[in-house]
Amino acid sequence: MADASVGADHDDENATPYSAASSQTVSVAQNVSMVSWGSGSAPSLPSVDNDSQADTHSISESVRSSTVSLDSSLYHFVQENGRTYHRYKEGRYFLPNDTAEQERLDLQHQLFTIAIGNKLNIAPIPDNPQRVLDIATGTGIWAIEFAIQHPESEVIGTDLSPIQPQYLPPNCKFEIDDAEDEWTFSAPFDFIHGRALMSCFNDPRAVVLQAFASLRPGGTMEWQDALFPMSYVGEPPTAATSALCRWNELMLEGVSRLGRSWSNAQHYKRYFEEAGFEDVVERRFYWPTSPWAKGAYFKTVAAYFQADMLAGLEAMSLKVLGVLGMTPMEVREFVEEVKRDFRDTSVHAYLTVTYIYGRKPQNPR
Ligand SMILES: C[S@@+](CC[C@H](N)C(=O)[O-])C[C@H]1O[C@@H](n2cnc3c(N)ncnc32)[C@H](O)[C@@H]1O
Repeated sequence: MADASVGADHDDENATPYSAASSQTVSVAQNVSMVSWGSGSAPSLPSVDNDSQADTHSISESVRSSTVSLDSSLYHFVQENGRTYHRYKEGRYFLPNDTAEQERLDLQHQLFTIAIGNKLNIAPIPDNPQRVLDIATGTGIWAIEFAIQHPESEVIGTDLSPIQPQYLPPNCKFEIDDAEDEWTFSAPFDFIHGRALMSCFNDPRAVVLQAFASLRPGGTMEWQDALFPMSYVGEPPTAATSALCRWNELMLEGVSRLGRSWSNAQHYKRYFEEAGFEDVVERRFYWPTSPWAKGAYFKTVAAYFQADMLAGLEAMSLKVLGVLGMTPMEVREFVEEVKRDFRDTSVHAYLTVTYIYGRKPQNPR
């Protein structure tokens, strides 16, 4: 772990005050409070909305600073293709860390929370979790919201990039850390959270093991992650006829060449159980690519997911398809085709997203 936390003393333009970060977030659908998936059961698979209105649903629209200063060289981000990337452990992670990516992550945060009924987690956690860790925290938005909702907790977020806000709730702080390095936290945690991790780790099973060791007995961990490739309701297209289908196949191949797997989430439940977690629960949610699916829940989730992907496709694809030999120009042209499929309500595709949690036994083996 780098011996540095995100500090208040630097004046880097990438640091965003919490208030500004909130206002910067892509505007949210007005009907979020109406979205509900019932009392505890996850929504079933989406079904096609044959109503002609299907196309019309879219997204319209006590503070202190942490004290330890961060080595300023970590703010000299790597620049490539007009984007910036993390400097600490340069090259470990292939998505950018600039303002556009931060805004996308904050939008994606809304998506993950709306999908589960405006909640930060689905795991039952103790009323007063004392120590909470959010690994690969990104902009820290989950950690900050958790800290606000649980003022009795001390919440720590870790990431390769110092892109978290400068002004924070008093019970929240951030550290620069590679979660695949040895964990050296001073005390165990009551709750560990990780989200959108699929591009982060060479060996997620090893991260689960370290997290298990860093929980106090009775503590809980929850991971929320996407499971690629995307699926289809009805007859799936082929890579020969569908840009979206081809994109899924190529991205899976590209990330695997980069030492990652976008299909790892299917194994998380087993990793949790093998590490020693008990009462491990996995629930799957489905995010349609456009408002093709029936019902307010799916239309809202789709609006966020579509906006998330339209914003992120180019950056994701530039690096990953680049390793397959595509030039930036070829990637950009291809991404435009994929975007058309994301907007096309006759394409009945969806992404599966898994939420997994488990508890460390009171008397671990
Ligand atoms: C897709 S973002 C998700 C951010 C956040 N968890 C969320 O859901 O809003 C992934 C984040 O993980 C960070 N990351 C990637 N690999 C990491 C690693 N090995 N250790 C710590 N952070 C990592 C990246 O810098 C990025 O901020």
